[in-house]
Parts: sequence; C-alpha cells; structure tokens
Amino acid sequence: MDSKQEKINKLKEALDLSKLGGGQKRIDKQHANKKLTARERIEYLFDEGSFEEIGALVTHRTTDFGMENQIYYGDGVVTGYGTVNGRLIYAYAQDFTVFGGSLSETHAEKICKIMDMAVKVGAPIIGLNDSGGARIQEGVRSLGGYADIFYRNVQASGVIPQISAVMGPCAGGAVYSPAMTDFTIMVENSSYMFVTGPNVVKTVTNEEVTSEELGGALTHASKSGVAHKTSENDIACLEDVKKLLSYLPQNNTEKTKKLEITIDDEVRDVLSDIVPDNPNKPYDMHDVISGVIDDNSFYEIHKDYAESIIVGFARLGGRSIGIIANQPMAFAGVLGVNSSRKAARFTRTCDCFNIPLLVLVDVPGFLPGTDQEWNGIIVHGAKLLYALSEATVPRITVITRKAYGGAYDVMNSKHIGADFNYAWPGAEIAVMGAKGASEIIFRKEIAAADNPEEKLAEKETEYAEKFANPYRAAKRGFIDEVILPKNTRRKLLKAFDMLENKKIDSPKRKHGNIPL
Ligand code: HXC
Repeated sequence: MDSKQEKINKLKEALDLSKLGGGQKRIDKQHANKKLTARERIEYLFDEGSFEEIGALVTHRTTDFGMENQIYYGDGVVTGYGTVNGRLIYAYAQDFTVFGGSLSETHAEKICKIMDMAVKVGAPIIGLNDSGGARIQEGVRSLGGYADIFYRNVQASGVIPQISAVMGPCAGGAVYSPAMTDFTIMVENSSYMFVTGPNVVKTVTNEEVTSEELGGALTHASKSGVAHKTSENDIACLEDVKKLLSYLPQNNTEKTKKLEITIDDEVRDVLSDIVPDNPNKPYDMHDVISGVIDDNSFYEIHKDYAESIIVGFARLGGRSIGIIANQPMAFAGVLGVNSSRKAARFTRTCDCFNIPLLVLVDVPGFLPGTDQEWNGIIVHGAKLLYALSEATVPRITVITRKAYGGAYDVMNSKHIGADFNYAWPGAEIAVMGAKGASEIIFRKEIAAADNPEEKLAEKETEYAEKFANPYRAAKRGFIDEVILPKNTRRKLLKAFDMLENKKIDSPKRKHGNIPL
C-alpha cells in the first residue's frame, strides 16, 4: 500500500499533468496562433487566486481508435467557479490543446455540472469556446453531450445571465449553444462560427468563401448579427466579458447593484444644441445618449449591425439601464427587419434581468419596399411591438424629434405600457410627414388650385403647424411632459428613482406567443 506521502505525490502528479492540457508543444502552437490557453483565459477572467476548479481529474471513457492510450486529465475543458470583481461567477474554458477542444461525453458532463450549479445558486455562467466540435472518435455520444448543454442553455435562459466568448473555432451544431445564450462575443481574426464550413459550402452551393468571410467575427458582427460584439484579441474579449457582467444582475430575482456616485450634473446644456433646426438633417443619437447618461458609461451592443437603431447598456445615476434609440445618421433612423429584431431581442434581455429601459425616439416610420415586405417586416416589427408591450421593467421614452406612424406606437408609446413619455419641444408626432399627409388629404384641393405647388406648400405648413409638434399628444396625456433638452437627465434620474419599486403581475399563462 502507498504511504501517505506517496498518495499525496500521486495526486500532485495528476493535478500537475492536468494543468499541462495537451502538452507543451500544443500550448506553444496555441500561443503561436496568438491565442491564450484555456487556463490562461480563466486566470485572466477571474479575480486573482479566486478560481476553484471542478473536475480536473475527469478523463474520457472512449476505447475506440486507440483512445484508451490517449488520456488527458480534464478532458479538454476547464470548469469551475470564482469571483469576477468580487461577484460569484461560473465558467468553462475549452482547451484546444486536448483533441482540439473537441466535445466528448465527459467534456459535456463537466459543462453540464457547472451549468446546473450556476442555476441552483443563481449566478452567471461564462463559456469560453475554442473547439473543433464533436469529438469525432465518440460519435453520437458527443452529439448527445451537445444536446444536454443546449437543453440546459434553454432552462437557464432568463434565469441567470449566460455569456459566450467565441475564441477559436465553433462549427456545426456547436454554434447553437452560444446562439441560445444572452450574449456572444467573438475574437477578431481567430474565431469563427458556422453551421457548415467552406468545404461543404463549396460542394453544395459551389460558392467559394473563406472561413473568415463565412463566419468570422466581423461577418457576424455586421452581416448576421450572431455576434453582439467583437474584440481585438483574447485579453480584450475577457475585458469585454467583465464589463458586460457589470451591467447585469446575478440572476432574474435580483437587480444590478447600483453604483454610489455623486450627481452634480443634472442639467446638461450640451443637449440643447444636438437636434438641427432642419428636420431632414441627421444628427448622431450617440450625442444624446452621452449627454444623458453618467460619463463614459455606454456599452454598445450590436454596434455594427442594423445601425439605424442603437442598443446598449449605460448607467444613469449609478443605476444600470438599457437604452434603445433610433439613429437618424443611418437610414434616417427608420425601423426595418433587422433593426426591429435587434431592439426586440435587447428589450427582452433587459426585461428578464430587471434592467430598466430608456427609449430615445426619432423615427420617420418603417422602411418601405419589397425587400422589407418579402422578408417579413410585419412579423419582425411585431417582435419589437410585442417585446416592449410585455416588458414589465420601468420604461421611459423621450421623443427627441420624429415619431411618425406605426413606429410612434411601437417605440415605447404610452399606449403599450411606457411609464413616462417625454418629448422635446421640437418633437413631431403624427401619422406621417406633412408633405405626404397633405398630398393625400388635400389632393382634390391641390389639383384644382391655379398653382398646385404653392397650394401644396401652403397645406403642408398648415398640417405641420397642427401636427408636427408634441402638444396635441401632450393635451391627450400621451406625452406626460414636454421638457427642455437640457433638463432630460434630471427628469430621467428622478423618474427612474420613482419607478424603482415598479411591480406588475402579469396574467398567469404558460408563455406568450411572440411572433418569431
Ligand atoms: C477529435 C479533433 C477534432 C474533433 C480537431 N481535433 N478537431 N479531435 N475531434 N472534432 C484534433 C486534431 O486531430 C488535432 O490533434 C488537434 O485537435 C488540433 O487540430 P488541428 O487540425 O491540428 O488544428 P487546426 O489546424 O488549428 O484546425 C482546427 C480545426 C480542424 C479547423 C478545428 O481541426 C478541424 O477541421 N477539425 C474537425 C472539425 C469538425 O469537422 N468537427 C466536427 C463538426 S460537426 P493532434 O493530436 O494532432 O493535436 C459537429 C457537430 C456538432 O461538431 C453537433 C452538435 C449538435
């Protein structure tokens, strides 16, 4: 029998081996590819010395293809818990040095174990993905392992925040775990995600495309919207994960901790000069956002995707809020298929994690055209309408300029449950713009006029004076208050404070049927 010391040495030896993953040569290759190893990533993510590993001695159970002679402690994934800026967080990091980080049955079991724990305890889970996909030597057992994770992603959805960092390959069905988490952050030039890779694409569709073009970080951040954010390298990605966490609560029964800050800048004159006199001239809604929120606190999501709407987290008086804002700089801030989906998803993310919503409105309407109609603008626009209507978090709207047509209703109007609706004095709230409206309702009068153009201009002015202002809506109480731009921050600070304990008990049902 081993002596006590021998037993201790045996354990130490196994743990040391587990730390080496697939060995120094493969670690060097990982570094040569400008990637950190799984352990280095974990070390960087967590507060120093706080990470506790679970399952370091797990090994795979495969005996086919000589696998019984290739045993690596940990089986290609480091799992455990620790603190990030003092908060309890669970994480797994796939180790590309062990069978290319591929997912075996036991690898999946390790991930499922900490997912279950994270849900039981009510703390966020972070997945650091870097994997060649299903462990080819294991066949269906590996596919089953993926499905076990997918199932847990869904059970945890809306209960604890789930963040995926894609820091290497992520292909085949493996992409569906990140896709079901709340956020996906991809590392530029070293990560990709696709359901079928370039070779299969070439065989099936005869298209020639590189991995980067097909599913690289920039592709998913700008074209598909699969990535919520991209980061320059591994370190920047882990910093992004930490920052994102700071806006989120531990779970759906808690609120994000409010930062203690001194507020001595309630009035901000900078807001007075942003919207141009000419209603057709664009301006950057980012200026309104930064003019309202705590300094430098905006964390934009989906920055390069569907840019006619801006979404992101910020702090207002130290409180974490979600912002949805039309962007007049991109397609005049119009609502389209992608911008509606983007804002709807963000609304639901905020609502399930008790993050109040601020909606800044300057919207000329929905984008017309066959492309939009055939791609289902009706159903996608309905997603945003539905998501905002069902959101029970505090919701405040500020109309900075235009709020036209159906988009007025959709963009967090009073009628769909917003708590406070403010408008700036230059706001235009109407069924449509003055020109289009006059052409329709005064058509006969204009046609019969000696000078139709002059008549149209006259009618346009008449219509604009009547409707292109916030006062009709204010008279009806659809707008609670017309406010000076410079006072917006003060109004919002007070209103969100007042709404702190807002509570809505929704009717009992299994779940609503959001138009997907
Ligand atoms: C087992 C794998 C593996 C896998 C890679 N490896 N992928 N082992 N199962 N899926 C091993 C390699 O044999 C190699 O082992 C090591 O990992 C590193 O791989 P390399 O090819 O040397 O690395 P690189 O050149 O960087 O290429 C990475 C890669 C490539 C692009 C990911 O390895 C690759 O194409 N792998 C196969 C991808 C794939 O088809 N997976 C199945 C997808 S389907 P050594 O011993 O040499 O270090 C899928 C379905 C999921 O995942 C369905 C869920 C529902």
